[in-house]
Amino acid sequence: MSLPLPAGVERVLFTEEQIHERVRKVAAEISERYRGRELKLVGVLKGSVFFLTQLARAIEIPVKIDFLSISSFSSKSGSAGVVRIAKDLDDSIEGEDVLLVEDIIDTGFTIRYLLQTLAGRGPNSMGLCTLLDRTSRRIVQVPVDFRCFEIGDHFVIGCGLDYKQLYRNLDYIAVMNPEILKKSV
Ligand code: IMP
Ligand code: MG
Repeated sequence: MSLPLPAGVERVLFTEEQIHERVRKVAAEISERYRGRELKLVGVLKGSVFFLTQLARAIEIPVKIDFLSISSFSSKSGSAGVVRIAKDLDDSIEGEDVLLVEDIIDTGFTIRYLLQTLAGRGPNSMGLCTLLDRTSRRIVQVPVDFRCFEIGDHFVIGCGLDYKQLYRNLDYIAVMNPEILKKSV
């Protein structure tokens, strides 16, 4: 039984099952890498929430979670440029093993800023995990430790990723209908 796709969806890129399977594999890699330690997952609101909760439940070592949110002052072309923290973490990360969790890394500006900022707070280690990676649009290099999927140059929605705050709750990841993107310019 399949529901009709919403108007914003052009095609499904990764199904719910594919995402679950991949997230479980990445969670196993993370559990292995940090075995014997406690891990703090730091999620970037709001996009990473869906991915982070799924990932956290599949990780086998003790985890703590915390969140921050950022505002980016973007150029017309989308996400780029100046980033600042709009909501900071609740707790200190000093001495902790921190894994920053993102929904998608595009130009890399957001993550570079966050990695630099958090590294300055004295964590024991600082890692990066992303659901999606669009390396073809990278402007600044960032070290990606764990990635679920590499994607091509199309705008995607679902599994936390939004278009104008909508579609985050789709169980799958989809390519956004370009007609709708065009209309809204
Ligand atoms: P970066 O700073 O260019 O790497 O931007 C990454 C941020 O841009 C992500 O955290 C998302 O919030 C947003 N973003 C980039 N590409 C997409 C997309 O295809 N769909 C939804 N949001 C996106
Ligand atoms: Mg984001």
